[in-house]
Amino acid sequence: MDLGIAGKTALVCGASKGLGYGCAEALVREGVNVVIVARGAEVLEAAAKTLVGAAGTSGTSGAFVKHVAADITTEAGRAAVFALGHDFDIVVTNAGGPPPGDFRNWDREAWIKAVDANMLTPIELIKATVDGMARRGFGRIVNITSSSVKSPIDILGLSNGARSGLTGFVAGVARTAVAAQGVTINNLLPGSFDTDRLKGTMAGAAQKSGQDFDTVWEARKKNIPARRFGTPAEFGAICAFLCSMQAGYMTGQNVLADGGAYPGTY
Ligand SMILES: NC(=O)c1ccc[n+]([C@@H]2O[C@H](COP(=O)([O-])OP(=O)(O)OC[C@H]3O[C@@H](n4cnc5c(N)ncnc54)[C@H](OP(=O)(O)O)[C@@H]3O)[C@@H](O)[C@H]2O)c1
Repeated sequence: MDLGIAGKTALVCGASKGLGYGCAEALVREGVNVVIVARGAEVLEAAAKTLVGAAGTSGTSGAFVKHVAADITTEAGRAAVFALGHDFDIVVTNAGGPPPGDFRNWDREAWIKAVDANMLTPIELIKATVDGMARRGFGRIVNITSSSVKSPIDILGLSNGARSGLTGFVAGVARTAVAAQGVTINNLLPGSFDTDRLKGTMAGAAQKSGQDFDTVWEARKKNIPARRFGTPAEFGAICAFLCSMQAGYMTGQNVLADGGAYPGTY
């Protein structure tokens, strides 16, 4: 299917690896120009080079790939991105998730950091881009959140809380602010995807339970109806669809990609 977004320009945050990279790759393959952001310059630069290759092999070599090494959760980081001067048609918000742990050990600073990264940063990015999208009559914002907003994960309380705040905000703004101007805002909720982040979370769970990593890793797969973890490429393909022309009538939604792990009907 031609998603109809070749030539559009996307900002993809947290995109040197993992789910953000998967989204950037899927968009590049559709002929979308992308600006990718992450803090670590070396891995980011290598990712940008691979994306240029992906654009070439998919016959969309007209698309550009730019990278900005910045912490997207800071004002200075966001300013560095917007200093490029692009009018973004597509924005994928993403940053690392908060650390696992016991809520008894989290102080105010830990909560502010989580809320800053996983609630206020996406809100700032929406604020900075959505009116321009509305003026131009097209826009797609996809927030990478987590299945934890539907089904909380015990050791990820910081994530459960901060992302639920974003989810409530998006439910309102997607409908009231820009739906009539061709702009959609949706959340994409990963269940368990094979990335460094999942490996880190599983290592934390293994330590907490006193089991070895492989035992916890395999046991988690058995709890997923699909009996496997998702791949960043699968996640990116769903993101690209949400950014497509065809998805223009879908907004304010929480789209779960979890191999069937969430047990509810709705
Ligand atoms: N994988 C899963 O199963 C899963 C499940 C539920 C939710 N999630 C959530 O989905 C998001 C992406 O997860 P992932 O698995 O793709 O993680 P990942 O493999 O660790 O990749 C995270 C990416 O974001 C970048 N990043 C992190 N903090 C950043 C910041 N402050 N500013 C700019 N870039 C930043 C990282 O690069 P640098 O470190 O170099 O900045 C990296 O490119 C996270 O919020 C995670 O909590 C993931």
